[in-house]
Amino acid sequence: MGMQEEIQRRRTFAVISHPDAGKTTLTEKLLLFGGAIQVAGAVKSNKIKRSTTSDFMEIERQRGISVATSVMGFDYRDHKINILDTPGHQDFAEDTFRTLTAVDSAIVVIDVAKGVEMQTEKLVKVCRMRNTPIIVFINKLDRIGKEAIELLDEIEQKLGLNLTPLSWPIGMGPYLKGVYNIYEKRLNLFSAHGRQQEEETISISELSSPELDRYLDTQAQTLRDDLELLGGIYPPFSHEDFLQGAVSPVFFGSAINNFGVKELLDCFVEIAPPPLARSAAERLVEADEESFSGFVFKIHANMDPKHRNRIAFVKVCSGVFERNKNYFHVRQSRKLKFANATGFMAQKKELIDKAYPGDIVGLYDTGNFRIGDTLTAGESLNFKGIPSFSPEQFRYVVNADPMKSKQLSKGIDQLMAEGVAQVFTSRMSGRQIIGTVGPLQFDVIQHRLLHEYGASCRYEPANLYKACWIACEDDRELARFSDKKHRALAVDKEGRLCFLAESAYSIQLAKEDFPKIEFHYTSDF
Ligand code: G4P
Repeated sequence: MGMQEEIQRRRTFAVISHPDAGKTTLTEKLLLFGGAIQVAGAVKSNKIKRSTTSDFMEIERQRGISVATSVMGFDYRDHKINILDTPGHQDFAEDTFRTLTAVDSAIVVIDVAKGVEMQTEKLVKVCRMRNTPIIVFINKLDRIGKEAIELLDEIEQKLGLNLTPLSWPIGMGPYLKGVYNIYEKRLNLFSAHGRQQEEETISISELSSPELDRYLDTQAQTLRDDLELLGGIYPPFSHEDFLQGAVSPVFFGSAINNFGVKELLDCFVEIAPPPLARSAAERLVEADEESFSGFVFKIHANMDPKHRNRIAFVKVCSGVFERNKNYFHVRQSRKLKFANATGFMAQKKELIDKAYPGDIVGLYDTGNFRIGDTLTAGESLNFKGIPSFSPEQFRYVVNADPMKSKQLSKGIDQLMAEGVAQVFTSRMSGRQIIGTVGPLQFDVIQHRLLHEYGASCRYEPANLYKACWIACEDDRELARFSDKKHRALAVDKEGRLCFLAESAYSIQLAKEDFPKIEFHYTSDF
């Protein structure tokens, strides 16, 4: 197979949702269809959720297991599918945000009864930063939930998506008869489908057909009315608009019953994009360029606490990655060779010789990589769009063992390179402030510093609300701002200037006082 065909057949995506909407269940059914797993429950056992602070040890234990499920690759029909897993626990949301920078599309799972939830909003926002094409899967149709039309309205409003339903539910909960697949003009009658069983659908291209009444009885007319109504509200599906991230198709189903999942997958492989061109600071890099390029979007450390081994996940953006070849680490400006490059097929890590755009390569690392690093065949490229996001919880970090200050600083440096959290250094006091998305990471950091680096730390409260990255074209204005807000300024680990705000109000005030200063909630702007 030629390189062009290899690229065209790849689909690299993530399934995202608010916890409990059914992400794990859906992922598992997709894997069953692809033959990547044989038994239900294989994904579930690795998941981390609903944990409280006291469970962080359990989270640490599971990190070792979850490396295998970080990327789940399998072949389906003529396609090579790569599902990038995202942590279920919302304290690890930043991990999820970064993984989303490496996908070419996303499936958003929404619980039919709960509708759009907080985490769904955040994740979709991140996808929309890069106009990532999104498919919506409305799950748990076997339960009574919101009216489909109302729900679509809510999704459009809250997520800012333009929708086009490609399937439509017939009843719900105990009255669920099935779904009508608008895309393929087929009726899919509800039954709890077993593992890998083909869903039997009935072709009904003419809605006026009496066959519809035979299958659906009184619900046939409701379906006809619904579809007529839909035709007036939603535009017909445009593949072009979907690829631009301007319109999102919607499917309905019940993941646990394996209902509507195959329809979703079949349509997904057809319409979801193969790896696309990606912007580097220097130029746009096309996937089918001959020279290899890729970037690190995730670093997984501590697989074996006795050895400080880490694995860096690289998304191949162009060209072919080959094992044992020298590649250029742009930030460090040096050549590196990887003998142990691994690929991810059927949840197993295995040595690979070649990887194509869209694929994820796992590289064993002893501390050379940071999130966002670019690897190339030789060119100096820096891929954009791998931002840090403003943390939501902040604490001062204090060295609890003066004899181990070197270890502490090395440990913090390495953990931050991995993206566990972010560190800011106050301009005024020189003190370090750690910022995270949720409280769990503070325990994780303390634990890992002690066990992996022999350093101990304690925290002191920092009463902060957000970190905003600052930019301004007018140097004098920036100097005036720095002078006035000296106490609230810090630098991140790359030396970029940040405003540490105590409240939403203080950001608003600063914006009013300094209209020329730009305040950004992500580091990539
Ligand atoms: P998540 O990864 O998004 O957090 O969700 P997950 O798949 O774990 O699903 C959350 C719960 O919803 C699970 O129940 C799961 O069985 C259930 N679920 C998933 N899909 C459907 C569906 O189509 N219909 C119904 N009725 N339930 C569904 P649980 O009780 O939390 O876990 P378990 O005891 O079933 O493992």
